Amino acid sequence: MRKVTSCGEVIVKDLVWSNTLSVEVDEIDEDHRRLVDLFNILNHAVADGESADYQEAVLEELISCTVWHFKHEERLMLKYAYEELAAHKTEHQDLIESAKALQQQFLQADKRIANKDIEFLEHWLTEHILVADMRLGAYLIEVM
Ligand SMILES: [Fe+2]
Repeated sequence: MRKVTSCGEVIVKDLVWSNTLSVEVDEIDEDHRRLVDLFNILNHAVADGESADYQEAVLEELISCTVWHFKHEERLMLKYAYEELAAHKTEHQDLIESAKALQQQFLQADKRIANKDIEFLEHWLTEHILVADMRLGAYLIEVM
């Protein structure tokens, strides 16, 4: 996230990990912290005007780690017979598709990531954690 002050100065605001984002299952929180770190690296890469190749590499890392993390959650849902597995998995697939669509734009146009894309990715990352993963976490702490 970035804000422009009245003098035109750009302030990059990191996405800060806090208890608000914790689903209270350590192994899921650890993954989410890593994703937040990668989001912040991307955010700074865009604000610092890093090369398109570098921005693309960070975006690829973020997407790859997210794919891996979703498989991790889906394994836990299977192991602990989570009833909302199918809906949660569909949400994961939609999230990956939307991130890959964003990625395709860069690969085709070889352009840098725009501020609106950073805002989209911040929302993309946090909304799923705050809603679907919170429900999953509440279930898992009861049954693990
Ligand atoms: Fe999830």
